[in-house]
Amino acid sequence: MRIVLGVGGGIAAYKVASLLRLFTEAGHDVTVIPTEASTRFVGTATWEALSGNPVSNSVFDDVHLVNHVRLGHEADLVVVAPATADLLAKAATGQAGDLLTNTLLMAHGPVLFAPAMHTEMWQHAATRANVETLRGRGAAVLEPASGRLTGADSGPGRLPEPQAIFDAAMALVQGRSDYQLPLAGRTVTISAGGTRESLDPVRFLGNRSSGKQGVALAVAARNAGATVRLLAAHMEVPAPAGVEVQRVETALELREAALAAAADSDVIIMSAAVADFRPGEVSDTKIKKRDDTADPVITLVRNPDILQELVEKRNASRAGSGQLVVGFAAETGDSQGDVLAYAQAKLQRKGCDLLVVNHVGMDKVFGQDSNAVVILSRAGSEPQEASGTKTEVSEAIIRRISFELNHVSPRA
Ligand code: C5P
Repeated sequence: MRIVLGVGGGIAAYKVASLLRLFTEAGHDVTVIPTEASTRFVGTATWEALSGNPVSNSVFDDVHLVNHVRLGHEADLVVVAPATADLLAKAATGQAGDLLTNTLLMAHGPVLFAPAMHTEMWQHAATRANVETLRGRGAAVLEPASGRLTGADSGPGRLPEPQAIFDAAMALVQGRSDYQLPLAGRTVTISAGGTRESLDPVRFLGNRSSGKQGVALAVAARNAGATVRLLAAHMEVPAPAGVEVQRVETALELREAALAAAADSDVIIMSAAVADFRPGEVSDTKIKKRDDTADPVITLVRNPDILQELVEKRNASRAGSGQLVVGFAAETGDSQGDVLAYAQAKLQRKGCDLLVVNHVGMDKVFGQDSNAVVILSRAGSEPQEASGTKTEVSEAIIRRISFELNHVSPRA
Protein backbone atom coordinates (compact mmCIF):
# COMPACT_ATOMS: atom_id res chain seq x y z
CA MET A 1 0.00 0.00 0.00
CA ARG A 2 1.20 3.54 -0.70
CA ILE A 3 1.02 5.70 2.38
CA VAL A 4 1.69 9.41 2.73
CA LEU A 5 2.77 10.21 6.26
CA GLY A 6 2.39 13.91 7.04
CA VAL A 7 4.35 15.05 10.07
CA GLY A 8 3.19 18.15 11.93
CA GLY A 9 5.29 20.56 13.97
CA GLY A 10 4.93 19.20 17.49
CA ILE A 11 7.32 17.58 19.93
CA ALA A 12 5.54 14.25 19.41
CA ALA A 13 7.06 14.20 15.89
CA TYR A 14 9.85 12.00 17.26
CA LYS A 15 7.34 9.25 18.06
CA VAL A 16 6.30 9.18 14.42
CA ALA A 17 9.65 7.55 13.59
CA SER A 18 8.30 4.41 15.33
CA LEU A 19 5.01 4.71 13.43
CA LEU A 20 6.94 4.92 10.16
CA ARG A 21 8.85 1.79 11.17
CA LEU A 22 5.58 -0.07 11.80
CA PHE A 23 4.33 0.88 8.33
CA THR A 24 7.54 -0.06 6.51
CA GLU A 25 7.96 -3.32 8.44
CA ALA A 26 4.41 -4.24 7.41
CA GLY A 27 5.60 -3.85 3.80
CA HIS A 28 4.08 -0.48 2.94
CA ASP A 29 5.71 2.15 0.75
CA VAL A 30 5.75 5.36 2.76
CA THR A 31 6.43 8.89 1.57
CA VAL A 32 6.95 11.26 4.46
CA ILE A 33 5.93 14.90 4.10
CA PRO A 34 7.10 16.88 7.10
CA THR A 35 5.88 20.44 7.57
CA GLU A 36 8.55 23.12 7.74
CA ALA A 37 7.89 23.53 11.48
CA SER A 38 8.24 19.79 12.14
CA THR A 39 11.78 19.73 10.76
CA ARG A 40 12.80 21.78 13.80
CA PHE A 41 11.92 18.69 15.85
CA VAL A 42 13.00 15.86 13.51
CA GLY A 43 15.16 16.45 10.45
CA THR A 44 14.36 15.22 6.95
CA ALA A 45 17.40 12.89 7.00
CA THR A 46 15.62 10.74 9.62
CA TRP A 47 12.57 10.39 7.41
CA GLU A 48 14.60 9.64 4.28
CA ALA A 49 16.67 6.99 6.04
CA LEU A 50 13.69 5.28 7.66
CA SER A 51 11.34 5.43 4.67
CA GLY A 52 13.90 4.83 1.92
CA ASN A 53 12.12 7.52 -0.11
CA PRO A 54 13.08 11.12 -0.87
CA VAL A 55 11.55 13.67 1.45
CA SER A 56 10.41 17.18 0.65
CA ASN A 57 8.02 19.69 2.14
CA SER A 58 7.98 22.13 -0.73
CA VAL A 59 5.77 22.28 -3.80
CA PHE A 60 8.77 23.71 -5.66
CA ASP A 61 11.00 20.62 -5.34
CA ASP A 62 10.86 18.19 -8.28
CA VAL A 63 8.28 20.39 -10.00
CA HIS A 64 8.44 18.20 -13.12
CA LEU A 65 6.96 15.32 -11.08
CA VAL A 66 4.00 17.53 -10.06
CA ASN A 67 4.33 16.12 -6.56
CA HIS A 68 1.58 18.27 -5.08
CA VAL A 69 -0.92 16.47 -7.33
CA ARG A 70 0.70 13.06 -7.65
CA LEU A 71 1.28 12.17 -4.01
CA GLY A 72 -2.32 12.72 -2.93
CA HIS A 73 -3.71 10.97 -5.99
CA GLU A 74 -1.54 7.91 -5.65
CA ALA A 75 -1.81 7.46 -1.89
CA ASP A 76 -3.99 4.61 -0.66
CA LEU A 77 -3.93 6.26 2.75
CA VAL A 78 -2.81 9.60 4.20
CA VAL A 79 -1.89 9.73 7.89
CA VAL A 80 -1.08 12.98 9.67
CA ALA A 81 0.79 12.64 12.98
CA PRO A 82 1.11 14.64 15.06
CA ALA A 83 -1.86 16.60 13.75
CA THR A 84 -1.29 19.95 15.42
CA ALA A 85 -4.05 22.51 16.02
CA ASP A 86 -2.53 24.50 13.14
CA LEU A 87 -2.63 21.56 10.72
CA LEU A 88 -6.20 20.64 11.67
CA ALA A 89 -7.21 24.27 11.05
CA LYS A 90 -5.42 24.38 7.71
CA ALA A 91 -6.97 21.10 6.60
CA ALA A 92 -10.45 22.13 7.76
CA THR A 93 -10.28 25.42 5.86
CA GLY A 94 -8.71 23.90 2.76
CA GLN A 95 -5.48 25.86 2.82
CA ALA A 96 -2.75 24.81 0.44
CA GLY A 97 0.41 26.63 1.45
CA ASP A 98 2.79 23.68 1.44
CA LEU A 99 3.19 20.19 0.04
CA LEU A 100 1.35 18.44 2.89
CA THR A 101 -1.76 20.65 2.75
CA ASN A 102 -1.81 20.36 -1.07
CA THR A 103 -1.61 16.59 -0.73
CA LEU A 104 -4.51 16.58 1.74
CA LEU A 105 -6.64 18.47 -0.78
CA MET A 106 -5.73 16.01 -3.52
CA ALA A 107 -6.15 12.84 -1.44
CA HIS A 108 -8.50 10.27 -2.96
CA GLY A 109 -8.16 7.63 -0.27
CA PRO A 110 -8.89 7.63 3.46
CA VAL A 111 -7.26 10.28 5.66
CA LEU A 112 -6.40 9.79 9.32
CA PHE A 113 -5.40 12.58 11.71
CA ALA A 114 -3.70 11.66 14.99
CA PRO A 115 -3.83 14.88 17.03
CA ALA A 116 -1.36 16.03 19.66
CA MET A 117 -1.47 19.38 21.41
CA HIS A 118 -2.03 20.94 24.80
CA THR A 119 -5.39 20.18 26.38
CA GLU A 120 -6.68 23.76 26.12
CA MET A 121 -5.89 23.83 22.41
CA TRP A 122 -7.63 20.49 21.86
CA GLN A 123 -10.68 21.65 23.82
CA HIS A 124 -10.81 25.12 22.25
CA ALA A 125 -14.02 25.80 20.34
CA ALA A 126 -12.00 26.54 17.19
CA THR A 127 -10.29 23.14 17.27
CA ARG A 128 -13.54 21.35 18.16
CA ALA A 129 -15.18 22.96 15.12
CA ASN A 130 -12.27 22.04 12.86
CA VAL A 131 -12.37 18.42 14.04
CA GLU A 132 -16.13 18.26 13.44
CA THR A 133 -15.66 19.73 9.96
CA LEU A 134 -13.00 17.18 9.07
CA ARG A 135 -15.04 14.28 10.47
CA GLY A 136 -18.08 15.58 8.63
CA ARG A 137 -16.11 15.33 5.42
CA GLY A 138 -15.23 11.72 6.12
CA ALA A 139 -11.74 12.06 7.56
CA ALA A 140 -10.95 10.03 10.68
CA VAL A 141 -9.71 12.14 13.57
CA LEU A 142 -8.51 10.08 16.52
CA GLU A 143 -9.13 11.24 20.06
CA PRO A 144 -5.75 12.15 21.54
CA ALA A 145 -4.56 10.04 24.45
CA SER A 146 -4.60 11.49 27.95
CA GLY A 147 -1.72 11.94 30.32
CA ARG A 148 1.44 13.92 30.83
CA LEU A 149 2.02 16.58 28.17
CA THR A 150 5.23 18.38 27.29
CA GLY A 151 5.23 20.79 30.20
CA ALA A 152 3.97 20.26 33.72
CA ASP A 153 0.39 19.92 32.48
CA SER A 154 -1.49 16.71 31.86
CA GLY A 155 -4.83 15.85 30.25
CA PRO A 156 -6.10 14.87 26.81
CA GLY A 157 -3.64 15.90 24.12
CA ARG A 158 -0.94 13.22 23.93
CA LEU A 159 -0.27 11.64 20.59
CA PRO A 160 -1.82 8.14 20.64
CA GLU A 161 0.87 5.43 20.77
CA PRO A 162 2.36 4.47 17.37
CA GLN A 163 0.82 0.99 17.54
CA ALA A 164 -2.61 2.52 18.20
CA ILE A 165 -2.27 4.88 15.22
CA PHE A 166 -1.12 1.96 13.09
CA ASP A 167 -4.14 -0.13 14.18
CA ALA A 168 -6.51 2.77 13.48
CA ALA A 169 -4.94 3.29 10.05
CA MET A 170 -5.37 -0.37 9.14
CA ALA A 171 -8.97 -0.33 10.37
CA LEU A 172 -9.63 2.75 8.26
CA VAL A 173 -8.29 1.10 5.13
CA GLN A 174 -10.60 -1.83 5.81
CA GLY A 175 -13.51 0.60 5.67
CA ARG A 176 -14.12 1.06 9.37
CA SER A 177 -14.17 4.83 9.21
CA ASP A 178 -15.65 5.35 12.68
CA TYR A 179 -12.67 3.67 14.29
CA GLN A 180 -11.60 5.17 17.60
CA LEU A 181 -9.24 3.83 20.20
CA PRO A 182 -11.33 1.38 22.22
CA LEU A 183 -11.01 3.27 25.51
CA ALA A 184 -11.02 6.83 24.11
CA GLY A 185 -12.85 9.14 26.50
CA ARG A 186 -12.83 6.54 29.32
CA THR A 187 -11.22 6.88 32.73
CA VAL A 188 -9.56 3.76 34.09
CA THR A 189 -8.32 3.51 37.68
CA ILE A 190 -5.78 0.78 38.35
CA SER A 191 -4.30 -0.22 41.70
CA ALA A 192 -0.87 -1.81 41.54
CA GLY A 193 1.87 -3.20 43.75
CA GLY A 194 1.68 -4.43 47.32
CA THR A 195 0.48 -2.57 50.38
CA ARG A 196 2.76 -2.18 53.39
CA GLU A 197 1.17 -2.35 56.80
CA SER A 198 3.18 -0.53 59.47
CA LEU A 199 4.26 -2.18 62.70
CA ASP A 200 6.37 0.72 63.87
CA PRO A 201 8.23 3.60 62.15
CA VAL A 202 10.75 1.23 60.54
CA ARG A 203 8.97 -2.10 60.12
CA PHE A 204 6.04 -3.25 58.09
CA LEU A 205 4.21 -6.34 56.91
CA GLY A 206 4.43 -6.56 53.14
CA ASN A 207 4.04 -8.98 50.27
CA ARG A 208 5.85 -10.12 47.15
CA SER A 209 3.90 -8.08 44.58
CA SER A 210 6.24 -6.23 42.18
CA GLY A 211 3.61 -4.02 40.55
CA LYS A 212 4.68 -5.25 37.08
CA GLN A 213 1.24 -6.52 36.13
CA GLY A 214 -0.52 -3.35 37.30
CA VAL A 215 1.97 -1.14 35.45
CA ALA A 216 1.59 -3.23 32.28
CA LEU A 217 -2.19 -2.82 32.60
CA ALA A 218 -1.77 0.94 32.97
CA VAL A 219 0.33 1.05 29.80
CA ALA A 220 -2.17 -1.08 27.86
CA ALA A 221 -5.11 1.06 29.03
CA ARG A 222 -3.21 4.24 28.15
CA ASN A 223 -2.37 2.86 24.72
CA ALA A 224 -6.04 2.03 24.22
CA GLY A 225 -6.82 5.73 24.66
CA ALA A 226 -7.94 5.81 28.30
CA THR A 227 -7.18 8.43 30.91
CA VAL A 228 -5.36 6.28 33.44
CA ARG A 229 -5.07 6.82 37.17
CA LEU A 230 -2.55 4.53 38.81
CA LEU A 231 -2.94 3.99 42.54
CA ALA A 232 0.58 2.82 43.25
CA ALA A 233 1.32 0.88 46.42
CA HIS A 234 4.88 -0.44 46.81
CA MET A 235 6.24 -1.27 43.34
CA GLU A 236 9.61 -2.51 42.13
CA VAL A 237 9.12 -0.93 38.71
CA PRO A 238 8.73 2.74 37.80
CA ALA A 239 5.32 4.17 36.97
CA PRO A 240 4.89 4.62 33.21
CA ALA A 241 4.70 7.97 31.43
CA GLY A 242 1.33 9.31 30.46
CA VAL A 243 -0.62 8.16 33.49
CA GLU A 244 -1.63 10.04 36.62
CA VAL A 245 0.08 8.46 39.64
CA GLN A 246 -1.12 8.54 43.22
CA ARG A 247 1.15 6.87 45.77
CA VAL A 248 -0.35 4.91 48.63
CA GLU A 249 1.21 2.78 51.32
CA THR A 250 -1.36 0.93 53.39
CA ALA A 251 -4.62 -0.81 52.58
CA LEU A 252 -6.52 1.96 54.35
CA GLU A 253 -4.82 4.62 52.21
CA LEU A 254 -5.55 2.61 49.09
CA ARG A 255 -9.18 2.26 50.15
CA GLU A 256 -9.56 6.02 50.50
CA ALA A 257 -7.88 6.68 47.14
CA ALA A 258 -9.88 3.98 45.34
CA LEU A 259 -13.25 5.10 46.70
CA ALA A 260 -12.48 8.71 45.72
CA ALA A 261 -11.29 7.70 42.23
CA ALA A 262 -14.36 5.51 41.74
CA ALA A 263 -16.58 8.59 41.60
CA ASP A 264 -15.59 9.33 38.00
CA SER A 265 -14.06 6.07 36.74
CA ASP A 266 -15.54 3.97 33.96
CA VAL A 267 -13.35 1.05 34.99
CA ILE A 268 -11.62 0.10 38.23
CA ILE A 269 -9.03 -2.64 38.14
CA MET A 270 -7.86 -3.86 41.54
CA SER A 271 -4.60 -5.52 40.62
CA ALA A 272 -2.84 -4.48 43.83
CA ALA A 273 -1.97 -7.13 46.37
CA VAL A 274 -3.84 -5.69 49.34
CA ALA A 275 -2.95 -6.99 52.79
CA ASP A 276 -5.95 -8.80 54.23
CA PHE A 277 -4.75 -8.01 57.75
CA ARG A 278 -2.83 -5.20 59.43
CA PRO A 279 -1.25 -4.98 62.87
CA GLY A 280 -3.93 -3.95 65.37
CA GLU A 281 -1.54 -1.50 66.94
CA VAL A 282 1.12 0.59 65.27
CA SER A 283 3.87 1.60 67.65
CA ASP A 284 4.91 5.27 67.47
CA THR A 285 8.44 4.29 68.35
CA LYS A 286 10.61 1.45 67.15
CA ILE A 287 9.75 -1.76 68.98
CA LYS A 288 12.82 -2.54 71.08
CA LYS A 289 14.53 -5.90 71.35
CA ARG A 290 15.10 -6.34 75.05
CA ASP A 291 16.29 -9.29 77.09
CA ASP A 292 14.14 -8.49 80.10
CA THR A 293 10.73 -8.58 78.38
CA ALA A 294 8.77 -11.30 76.61
CA ASP A 295 8.92 -11.53 72.82
CA PRO A 296 6.29 -9.25 71.29
CA VAL A 297 3.09 -10.74 69.92
CA ILE A 298 1.53 -9.06 66.91
CA THR A 299 -2.22 -9.07 66.82
CA LEU A 300 -3.68 -8.64 63.37
CA VAL A 301 -6.99 -7.04 62.49
CA ARG A 302 -8.87 -7.47 59.23
CA ASN A 303 -8.56 -4.83 56.54
CA PRO A 304 -11.70 -3.76 54.70
CA ASP A 305 -12.19 -5.53 51.37
CA ILE A 306 -11.82 -2.61 48.98
CA LEU A 307 -12.96 -4.52 45.91
CA GLN A 308 -16.17 -5.57 47.63
CA GLU A 309 -16.81 -2.00 48.80
CA LEU A 310 -16.27 -0.67 45.29
CA VAL A 311 -18.83 -3.12 43.96
CA GLU A 312 -21.33 -2.20 46.70
CA LYS A 313 -20.82 1.50 46.02
CA ARG A 314 -21.27 0.98 42.28
CA ASN A 315 -24.41 -1.10 42.80
CA ALA A 316 -25.89 1.53 45.12
CA SER A 317 -25.42 4.36 42.64
CA ARG A 318 -27.62 4.53 39.59
CA ALA A 319 -25.24 6.96 37.89
CA GLY A 320 -22.35 4.54 38.30
CA SER A 321 -24.18 1.48 37.06
CA GLY A 322 -22.18 1.39 33.84
CA GLN A 323 -18.94 1.14 35.78
CA LEU A 324 -16.91 -2.03 35.32
CA VAL A 325 -15.14 -3.41 38.40
CA VAL A 326 -12.35 -5.90 37.83
CA GLY A 327 -10.68 -7.96 40.54
CA PHE A 328 -7.60 -10.12 40.60
CA ALA A 329 -7.21 -13.40 42.41
CA ALA A 330 -3.95 -15.14 43.17
CA GLU A 331 -4.98 -18.68 43.97
CA THR A 332 -3.44 -22.03 44.71
CA GLY A 333 -5.44 -25.23 44.57
CA ASP A 334 -5.52 -27.63 47.52
CA SER A 335 -7.09 -30.91 48.49
CA GLN A 336 -10.50 -29.21 48.84
CA GLY A 337 -10.70 -27.79 45.34
CA ASP A 338 -8.88 -26.55 42.27
CA VAL A 339 -7.85 -23.00 41.43
CA LEU A 340 -10.84 -22.28 39.20
CA ALA A 341 -13.37 -23.57 41.71
CA TYR A 342 -11.94 -21.26 44.38
CA ALA A 343 -11.86 -18.39 41.89
CA GLN A 344 -15.52 -18.88 40.87
CA ALA A 345 -16.52 -18.77 44.53
CA LYS A 346 -14.48 -15.59 45.00
CA LEU A 347 -16.10 -13.96 41.96
CA GLN A 348 -19.56 -14.60 43.40
CA ARG A 349 -18.54 -13.49 46.88
CA LYS A 350 -16.94 -10.23 45.73
CA GLY A 351 -19.54 -9.48 43.06
CA CYS A 352 -17.07 -7.86 40.64
CA ASP A 353 -17.77 -8.05 36.90
CA LEU A 354 -14.54 -9.73 35.86
CA LEU A 355 -12.02 -11.67 37.93
CA VAL A 356 -8.54 -12.24 36.55
CA VAL A 357 -7.20 -15.43 38.09
CA ASN A 358 -3.51 -16.22 38.52
CA HIS A 359 -2.29 -19.60 39.54
CA VAL A 360 0.42 -18.79 42.09
CA GLY A 361 3.25 -20.67 43.67
CA MET A 362 6.44 -19.40 45.26
CA ASP A 363 8.15 -19.24 41.85
CA LYS A 364 5.13 -18.24 39.79
CA VAL A 365 3.78 -14.79 38.93
CA PHE A 366 5.24 -12.57 41.65
CA GLY A 367 8.07 -10.50 40.18
CA GLN A 368 8.12 -12.51 36.96
CA ASP A 369 7.82 -10.99 33.49
CA SER A 370 5.37 -13.53 32.18
CA ASN A 371 2.00 -14.67 33.36
CA ALA A 372 -0.90 -16.97 32.52
CA VAL A 373 -4.38 -16.00 33.60
CA VAL A 374 -8.00 -17.00 33.24
CA ILE A 375 -10.59 -14.23 33.01
CA LEU A 376 -13.87 -15.16 34.68
CA SER A 377 -17.00 -13.12 34.16
CA ARG A 378 -19.90 -12.75 36.58
CA ALA A 379 -22.24 -12.69 33.60
CA GLY A 380 -21.24 -16.31 33.14
CA SER A 381 -19.53 -16.34 29.76
CA GLU A 382 -16.87 -18.97 29.09
CA PRO A 383 -13.63 -18.52 31.05
CA GLN A 384 -11.07 -16.84 28.77
CA GLU A 385 -7.40 -17.79 28.95
CA ALA A 386 -4.53 -15.39 28.27
CA SER A 387 -0.82 -16.05 28.59
CA GLY A 388 2.49 -14.54 27.57
CA THR A 389 4.46 -11.57 28.82
CA LYS A 390 2.73 -9.37 31.37
CA THR A 391 2.36 -6.83 28.53
CA GLU A 392 0.58 -9.37 26.32
CA VAL A 393 -1.63 -10.54 29.17
CA SER A 394 -2.49 -6.93 29.99
CA GLU A 395 -3.40 -6.20 26.39
CA ALA A 396 -5.74 -9.20 26.41
CA ILE A 397 -7.34 -8.02 29.67
CA ILE A 398 -7.77 -4.47 28.33
CA ARG A 399 -9.28 -5.82 25.08
CA ARG A 400 -11.78 -7.81 27.14
CA ILE A 401 -12.59 -4.78 29.29
CA SER A 402 -13.10 -2.63 26.16
CA PHE A 403 -15.41 -5.26 24.77
CA GLU A 404 -17.46 -5.40 27.98
CA LEU A 405 -17.73 -1.60 28.09
CA ASN A 406 -18.55 -1.09 24.44
CA HIS A 407 -20.75 -4.09 23.74
CA VAL A 408 -22.27 -5.33 26.98
CA SER A 409 -25.21 -3.57 28.64
CA PRO A 410 -24.94 -1.76 32.02
CA ARG A 411 -24.15 -3.80 35.09
CA ALA A 412 -25.51 -3.97 38.63
O1 C5P B 1 -9.67 -11.97 48.69
P1 C5P B 1 -8.43 -11.76 47.88
O2 C5P B 1 -7.38 -10.95 48.59
O3 C5P B 1 -7.87 -13.00 47.28
O4 C5P B 1 -8.96 -10.92 46.63
C1 C5P B 1 -8.12 -10.38 45.68
C2 C5P B 1 -8.77 -9.20 45.02
O5 C5P B 1 -9.38 -8.37 45.99
C3 C5P B 1 -7.77 -8.32 44.32
O6 C5P B 1 -8.42 -7.68 43.25
C4 C5P B 1 -7.38 -7.33 45.41
O7 C5P B 1 -6.85 -6.15 44.86
C5 C5P B 1 -8.70 -7.14 46.13
N1 C5P B 1 -8.61 -6.86 47.57
C6 C5P B 1 -9.15 -5.70 48.06
N2 C5P B 1 -9.12 -5.43 49.40
C7 C5P B 1 -8.57 -6.31 50.25
C8 C5P B 1 -8.05 -7.52 49.77
C9 C5P B 1 -8.07 -7.76 48.43
O8 C5P B 1 -9.65 -4.90 47.27
N3 C5P B 1 -8.54 -6.04 51.55
